[in-house]
Amino acid sequence: MAHFPKKLTAKIEKRHQDDALRILPSVGQLVDFSSNDYLGFAREKTISDTTFRYLTSSTAPRNGATGSRLISGNHEFYEQLERTLVQVHGSEAALVFNSGYDANLGFFASVPQRGDVILYDELIHASIRDGIQMSNANNFKFAHNNIEDLQDTFDRIRSKLIEDTVIYIVTESVFSMDGDTPDLQALVDFSSENGCHLVVDEAHAVGVFGTNGAGLLQELGLAEKVFARIITFGKAFGCHGAAILGSNGLKEYLVNFARSLVYTTGLPPHSVSTILAAYDFMGAGEGHGKKEHLHATIQKFKGELLNFQLQAVFIPSNSAIHCCLVPGNQQVKQVAQKLQEKGFNVKPILSPTVPKGRERLRFCLHSYNTDTEILEVVSLLSHLIPSA
Ligand SMILES: Cc1ncc(COP(=O)(O)O)c(C=O)c1O
Repeated sequence: MAHFPKKLTAKIEKRHQDDALRILPSVGQLVDFSSNDYLGFAREKTISDTTFRYLTSSTAPRNGATGSRLISGNHEFYEQLERTLVQVHGSEAALVFNSGYDANLGFFASVPQRGDVILYDELIHASIRDGIQMSNANNFKFAHNNIEDLQDTFDRIRSKLIEDTVIYIVTESVFSMDGDTPDLQALVDFSSENGCHLVVDEAHAVGVFGTNGAGLLQELGLAEKVFARIITFGKAFGCHGAAILGSNGLKEYLVNFARSLVYTTGLPPHSVSTILAAYDFMGAGEGHGKKEHLHATIQKFKGELLNFQLQAVFIPSNSAIHCCLVPGNQQVKQVAQKLQEKGFNVKPILSPTVPKGRERLRFCLHSYNTDTEILEVVSLLSHLIPSA
């Protein structure tokens, strides 16, 4: 076998020293407090049955997409899904990508041009950061969920802008590693007052918020005020893939310039019809019941945090993601391990995934978590960490 470069070995050793080595976990049977399957759609038989019906009714059945969407891969389910997305999410157009990672890479690497400016929340997802790295635009971060800092950052660069500079402001409606939400109304107002284009990643909000899971912007009546929304299907919708919602002009542009769409094989018919089946399930009312159940679970969890006086060590959240700060990689790993030994799959989130000193336990809540499970896991946690 070819020699493994020493430089790479050194990087792995550094990860060991920092207690930050990532390993692929084995499959277990613990109580799920870690997956993004917030509504249980990934395990929903009605959805797989509907998918099967879609596939068997196909006029041109095939196992794979057979090519890029621009060559031979744009099978019938893609068009059906994009029509559904436009309807449910109330956008002019929708463009499906292979994953949220691909959607963010494709958008940020191609849309902001040289001379444009990207102002981004300091905690935005790695996929957005990677897309920004590939862009020729200038980028500046602002403090997390902090409109004043956004204003200061904007004021600092304002004098350097030229006439045709386009400014993009980027945030998430539910932050993936914090579960919290920015003041979206304030961001919409700021963007319109200053002529900026707001882009919101709704990966952890679709399915959980909004009519038929249309997302938090839709729930707040702000969907039409943003330039683009990124939604993903691998979380509450329990499938795989993503879409960018925006204008017809944006869709046409992305089809031409988003390299993560152009230069990759499309999703297979099975994946796309599973997303369609998940939207059917959501719209048929059963999904709505799961969504209501999830929100009851969230309230139950928050209630137990109050009962056990743990709310001060948690990042405030109304979403399905609740994070308990346990600074230090070693410390947070130890607490997570004890929870896992007692049967609860709670994951530690280590630095450098989150800033040093902000390491945390990330509790993902689901429509299928029972009151007893929640009581037990919070009670156990209260014995493992000092309350504040
Ligand atoms: C906010 C956010 N955006 C994008 C992604 C990437 O989505 P996907 O898993 O579909 O690649 C994630 C995934 O964790 C995410 O949390």
